[in-house]
Amino acid sequence: MITVAGSLNIDLVTEAERFPLPGETILGTGFSTVFGGKGANQAVAAARLGGQVKMVGKVGNDLYGESYLEYLTNETVDVSNVKPVTHLPTGTASIVVAEQDNQIIVVAGANGDVDGDFIKEEMTGSQKGVLLVQLEIPDEAVEEAMKAAKANGSTVILNPAPFKPLPAEWWELADYITPNEHEAASLKKESNFHEAYREKLIVTRGSEGASFFEKGEEVLVPAPKVTPVDTTGAGDTFNGALAAFLDQGLALRQAVEKAVKAASMSITALGAQSAMPTLQQLEGGGDHAEK
Ligand code: RIB
Ligand code: NA
Repeated sequence: MITVAGSLNIDLVTEAERFPLPGETILGTGFSTVFGGKGANQAVAAARLGGQVKMVGKVGNDLYGESYLEYLTNETVDVSNVKPVTHLPTGTASIVVAEQDNQIIVVAGANGDVDGDFIKEEMTGSQKGVLLVQLEIPDEAVEEAMKAAKANGSTVILNPAPFKPLPAEWWELADYITPNEHEAASLKKESNFHEAYREKLIVTRGSEGASFFEKGEEVLVPAPKVTPVDTTGAGDTFNGALAAFLDQGLALRQAVEKAVKAASMSITALGAQSAMPTLQQLEGGGDHAEK
């Protein structure tokens, strides 16, 4: 059983050849509205790979929120612990996908209303398994989720994105911390980081793959070569897959290998979730990108 405590956003994706300069207006090449948010992205990634997933979070009492819950249910994600709130809109992410890179502005909306008490209540009685948590909900919610998971013996994966310095206690509560290479560099400069925590780090390295520690040694798992279309959500795919495979009882190395492959496949189509593979697609490595 995988619990994801985190954000649900609607992604407003604009495609353009490049980013506009400050004050400049340019013509874009495409626009789409897709499901996103680091929490829900990770939940979908894990569910497609066979995980039994429960999402804990908040949406607005609006059309975006309503359609998100319906969609997640179709993706077999249990949304009975995702609550609509009336005073805030569903979270949004305004994303520009340019040829070389992307830019994202997230407005928390209802995600910002997820507090410690809410998490405590919604996670009561949740089963032992894996907890996935990211930093698009308030700190007290992140912390409460990790405490609740620790209390029932779950494995805690903390994805420190978007980056912020981590309180000392979080380094203790998390079993694995999964920054990308930029976040990892920033984390290592923080005063709460100690060498002893290095072995908790699983670092995603874009087209290079991901690295983790095995018997005190850092091991790099290379990524297969793919033609990137949109890298938004690649890290989320990695995290969701990692949770799914650890929950299935795979050893860390195998889980990381499969997660790297899943993340590579996910970047072959526009949108965070559109090309996240199913178990079958992951094993076949097939032509799912056209879907
Ligand atoms: O990690 C990618 C996600 O970050 C997007 O789906 C967007 O919603 C932002 O939260
Ligand atoms: Na994608």
